[in-house]
Amino acid sequence: MAQGKFLTFEGGEGAGKTTQAKMLAGALEKAGIETLLTREPGGTFGAEAIRDLVLSGTSDRWSGMTELLLMYAARIDHVEKLIKPALDRGVWVISDRFADSSMAYQGYARGLGRDRVKAVHESVMGGFEPDLTILFDMDAVLAQKRVETRGEDLTRFDAESLDFHKALRAAFLEIAGDNPDRIVTVDADGSRGNVHNAILFALTKAHPDLAGKLGA
Ligand code: TYD
Repeated sequence: MAQGKFLTFEGGEGAGKTTQAKMLAGALEKAGIETLLTREPGGTFGAEAIRDLVLSGTSDRWSGMTELLLMYAARIDHVEKLIKPALDRGVWVISDRFADSSMAYQGYARGLGRDRVKAVHESVMGGFEPDLTILFDMDAVLAQKRVETRGEDLTRFDAESLDFHKALRAAFLEIAGDNPDRIVTVDADGSRGNVHNAILFALTKAHPDLAGKLGA
Protein backbone atom coordinates (compact mmCIF):
# COMPACT_ATOMS: atom_id res chain seq x y z
CA MET A 1 0.00 0.00 0.00
CA ALA A 2 1.44 3.41 -1.00
CA GLN A 3 1.91 5.97 1.75
CA GLY A 4 -0.78 8.65 1.96
CA LYS A 5 0.10 12.28 1.36
CA PHE A 6 0.23 14.88 4.10
CA LEU A 7 -1.33 18.21 3.12
CA THR A 8 -1.45 21.27 5.38
CA PHE A 9 -3.46 24.51 5.15
CA GLU A 10 -1.89 27.62 6.64
CA GLY A 11 -2.57 31.33 6.89
CA GLY A 12 -3.85 34.07 9.15
CA GLU A 13 -7.26 34.24 10.75
CA GLY A 14 -10.47 34.45 8.76
CA ALA A 15 -8.97 33.26 5.48
CA GLY A 16 -11.45 30.42 4.97
CA LYS A 17 -9.03 27.52 5.51
CA THR A 18 -11.49 25.38 7.38
CA THR A 19 -14.19 25.58 4.71
CA GLN A 20 -11.65 24.87 1.99
CA ALA A 21 -10.17 21.93 3.89
CA LYS A 22 -13.66 20.36 4.00
CA MET A 23 -14.18 21.04 0.28
CA LEU A 24 -10.85 19.44 -0.61
CA ALA A 25 -11.53 16.41 1.59
CA GLY A 26 -14.86 15.99 -0.23
CA ALA A 27 -13.15 16.22 -3.64
CA LEU A 28 -10.51 13.64 -2.68
CA GLU A 29 -13.08 11.23 -1.27
CA LYS A 30 -15.10 11.59 -4.46
CA ALA A 31 -11.97 10.67 -6.40
CA GLY A 32 -11.76 7.47 -4.34
CA ILE A 33 -8.95 8.61 -2.02
CA GLU A 34 -9.55 7.93 1.65
CA THR A 35 -8.98 11.24 3.45
CA LEU A 36 -8.63 12.30 7.07
CA LEU A 37 -9.40 15.89 7.99
CA THR A 38 -7.77 17.14 11.17
CA ARG A 39 -6.60 20.37 12.79
CA GLU A 40 -3.97 21.95 15.00
CA PRO A 41 -3.63 22.59 17.78
CA GLY A 42 -5.66 19.44 18.36
CA GLY A 43 -6.63 16.35 16.42
CA THR A 44 -6.21 13.79 19.20
CA PHE A 45 -7.78 13.58 22.64
CA GLY A 46 -4.62 14.81 24.38
CA ALA A 47 -3.86 17.51 21.83
CA GLU A 48 -7.43 18.84 22.05
CA ALA A 49 -6.97 19.18 25.83
CA ILE A 50 -3.81 21.21 25.18
CA ARG A 51 -5.74 23.26 22.60
CA ASP A 52 -8.22 24.32 25.29
CA LEU A 53 -5.35 25.43 27.49
CA VAL A 54 -3.54 27.42 24.85
CA LEU A 55 -6.45 29.12 23.08
CA SER A 56 -8.54 30.27 26.01
CA GLY A 57 -7.94 33.09 28.43
CA THR A 58 -6.46 36.54 28.01
CA SER A 59 -3.81 37.24 25.39
CA ASP A 60 -1.07 37.59 28.04
CA ARG A 61 -1.90 34.24 29.67
CA TRP A 62 1.12 32.47 28.16
CA SER A 63 4.53 33.68 27.04
CA GLY A 64 5.57 33.02 23.45
CA MET A 65 7.89 30.19 24.57
CA THR A 66 5.18 28.49 26.64
CA GLU A 67 2.87 28.73 23.64
CA LEU A 68 5.51 27.22 21.41
CA LEU A 69 6.14 24.29 23.72
CA LEU A 70 2.41 23.66 24.20
CA MET A 71 1.95 23.68 20.41
CA TYR A 72 4.75 21.14 19.98
CA ALA A 73 3.51 19.01 22.87
CA ALA A 74 0.14 18.85 21.09
CA ARG A 75 1.80 18.34 17.68
CA ILE A 76 3.91 15.33 18.61
CA ASP A 77 0.88 13.57 20.10
CA HIS A 78 -1.07 14.37 16.91
CA VAL A 79 1.71 13.19 14.58
CA GLU A 80 2.52 9.98 16.45
CA LYS A 81 -1.01 8.85 17.26
CA LEU A 82 -3.03 10.05 14.29
CA ILE A 83 -1.14 11.46 11.31
CA LYS A 84 1.67 8.94 10.80
CA PRO A 85 -0.52 5.85 11.36
CA ALA A 86 -3.06 7.20 8.83
CA LEU A 87 -0.35 7.92 6.23
CA ASP A 88 1.01 4.40 6.76
CA ARG A 89 -2.46 3.00 5.96
CA GLY A 90 -2.45 4.95 2.68
CA VAL A 91 -4.88 7.60 3.92
CA TRP A 92 -4.35 11.20 2.79
CA VAL A 93 -4.30 13.65 5.68
CA ILE A 94 -5.33 17.31 5.52
CA SER A 95 -4.41 19.33 8.59
CA ASP A 96 -5.98 22.74 9.16
CA ARG A 97 -2.70 24.35 10.39
CA PHE A 98 0.59 22.67 11.27
CA ALA A 99 4.18 23.69 12.05
CA ASP A 100 4.31 26.78 9.78
CA SER A 101 1.77 28.33 12.17
CA SER A 102 4.25 27.95 15.03
CA MET A 103 6.94 29.68 12.98
CA ALA A 104 4.58 32.50 11.93
CA TYR A 105 2.76 33.07 15.24
CA GLN A 106 5.34 32.22 17.87
CA GLY A 107 8.54 32.70 15.85
CA TYR A 108 7.71 35.92 14.03
CA ALA A 109 4.57 37.58 15.41
CA ARG A 110 5.34 36.82 19.06
CA GLY A 111 9.01 37.51 18.46
CA LEU A 112 10.69 34.29 19.61
CA GLY A 113 12.83 34.26 16.48
CA ARG A 114 13.28 31.73 13.70
CA ASP A 115 16.27 29.98 15.20
CA ARG A 116 14.58 28.99 18.43
CA VAL A 117 11.47 27.74 16.66
CA LYS A 118 13.59 25.83 14.16
CA ALA A 119 15.59 24.22 16.96
CA VAL A 120 12.44 23.04 18.75
CA HIS A 121 10.95 21.88 15.46
CA GLU A 122 13.99 19.82 14.49
CA SER A 123 14.37 18.26 17.89
CA VAL A 124 10.67 17.27 18.16
CA MET A 125 9.78 16.49 14.52
CA GLY A 126 13.05 15.29 13.02
CA GLY A 127 12.62 15.42 9.25
CA PHE A 128 8.82 14.95 9.25
CA GLU A 129 7.22 17.50 6.91
CA PRO A 130 4.05 17.99 4.88
CA ASP A 131 4.17 16.88 1.24
CA LEU A 132 2.34 20.05 0.24
CA THR A 133 1.26 23.18 2.11
CA ILE A 134 -1.35 25.64 0.86
CA LEU A 135 -0.89 29.16 2.21
CA PHE A 136 -4.08 31.23 2.28
CA ASP A 137 -2.93 34.77 1.72
CA MET A 138 -5.27 37.63 2.47
CA ASP A 139 -5.20 41.34 3.19
CA ALA A 140 -4.91 41.82 6.97
CA VAL A 141 -7.72 44.40 7.22
CA LEU A 142 -10.10 42.13 5.32
CA ALA A 143 -9.07 39.16 7.44
CA GLN A 144 -9.79 41.06 10.63
CA LYS A 145 -13.23 42.05 9.32
CA ARG A 146 -14.02 38.43 8.48
CA VAL A 147 -12.97 37.31 11.96
CA GLU A 148 -15.19 39.96 13.56
CA THR A 149 -18.24 39.04 11.51
CA ARG A 150 -18.04 35.24 11.53
CA GLY A 151 -19.86 35.13 14.83
CA GLU A 152 -17.69 32.63 16.67
CA ASP A 153 -16.06 33.15 20.02
CA LEU A 154 -12.75 34.94 19.57
CA THR A 155 -9.68 32.95 20.60
CA ARG A 156 -6.67 34.54 22.31
CA PHE A 157 -5.14 35.02 18.87
CA ASP A 158 -8.17 36.50 17.08
CA ALA A 159 -8.20 39.22 19.71
CA GLU A 160 -4.81 40.55 18.65
CA SER A 161 -4.39 43.95 16.93
CA LEU A 162 -4.27 44.79 13.24
CA ASP A 163 -0.48 45.16 13.49
CA PHE A 164 -0.31 41.57 14.72
CA HIS A 165 -2.34 40.38 11.72
CA LYS A 166 -0.09 42.35 9.37
CA ALA A 167 3.07 40.91 10.91
CA LEU A 168 1.53 37.47 10.61
CA ARG A 169 0.79 37.89 6.92
CA ALA A 170 4.35 39.07 6.23
CA ALA A 171 5.69 36.14 8.25
CA PHE A 172 3.72 33.53 6.31
CA LEU A 173 4.83 35.06 3.00
CA GLU A 174 8.44 34.92 4.12
CA ILE A 175 8.07 31.29 5.20
CA ALA A 176 6.53 30.50 1.79
CA GLY A 177 9.49 32.21 0.11
CA ASP A 178 11.88 30.05 2.12
CA ASN A 179 10.07 26.82 1.13
CA PRO A 180 9.14 27.24 -2.53
CA ASP A 181 9.07 23.50 -3.22
CA ARG A 182 6.60 22.71 -0.45
CA ILE A 183 4.38 25.80 -0.06
CA VAL A 184 1.93 27.11 -2.67
CA THR A 185 0.34 30.50 -1.94
CA VAL A 186 -3.26 31.06 -3.00
CA ASP A 187 -5.16 34.34 -3.01
CA ALA A 188 -7.80 33.80 -0.32
CA ASP A 189 -9.78 36.96 -1.22
CA GLY A 190 -11.41 35.14 -4.15
CA SER A 191 -14.75 33.33 -4.21
CA ARG A 192 -15.01 29.91 -2.56
CA GLY A 193 -15.11 28.23 -5.96
CA ASN A 194 -12.05 30.06 -7.25
CA VAL A 195 -10.01 29.30 -4.15
CA HIS A 196 -11.07 25.63 -4.33
CA ASN A 197 -9.98 25.47 -7.99
CA ALA A 198 -6.64 27.09 -7.17
CA ILE A 199 -6.07 24.39 -4.55
CA LEU A 200 -7.02 21.58 -6.96
CA PHE A 201 -4.63 23.10 -9.50
CA ALA A 202 -1.75 23.16 -6.98
CA LEU A 203 -2.47 19.60 -5.96
CA THR A 204 -2.62 18.22 -9.49
CA LYS A 205 0.60 20.04 -10.31
CA ALA A 206 2.27 18.25 -7.40
CA HIS A 207 0.52 14.94 -8.22
CA PRO A 208 -0.16 14.81 -11.97
CA ASP A 209 -1.81 11.37 -11.62
CA LEU A 210 -4.74 13.13 -9.88
CA ALA A 211 -5.56 15.33 -12.86
CA GLY A 212 -8.37 13.27 -14.41
CA LYS A 213 -9.77 12.17 -11.05
CA LEU A 214 -10.20 15.61 -9.46
CA GLY A 215 -11.67 17.25 -12.53
CA ALA A 216 -9.05 20.01 -12.40
P1 TYD B 1 -8.49 28.43 15.37
O1 TYD B 1 -9.75 28.94 15.95
O2 TYD B 1 -8.42 27.02 14.92
O3 TYD B 1 -8.01 29.45 14.25
P2 TYD B 1 -8.20 29.44 12.70
O4 TYD B 1 -9.66 29.20 12.42
O5 TYD B 1 -7.76 30.81 12.31
O6 TYD B 1 -7.28 28.38 12.18
O7 TYD B 1 -7.34 28.70 16.43
C1 TYD B 1 -6.06 28.28 16.27
C2 TYD B 1 -5.18 29.41 16.73
O8 TYD B 1 -3.93 28.89 17.19
C3 TYD B 1 -4.87 30.38 15.61
O9 TYD B 1 -5.03 31.68 16.09
C4 TYD B 1 -3.41 30.14 15.33
C5 TYD B 1 -2.87 29.61 16.61
N1 TYD B 1 -1.70 28.72 16.44
C6 TYD B 1 -0.44 29.12 16.87
O10 TYD B 1 -0.28 30.23 17.39
N2 TYD B 1 0.63 28.28 16.74
C7 TYD B 1 0.49 27.05 16.18
O11 TYD B 1 1.49 26.29 16.07
C8 TYD B 1 -0.81 26.63 15.74
C9 TYD B 1 -1.01 25.27 15.14
C10 TYD B 1 -1.88 27.49 15.90
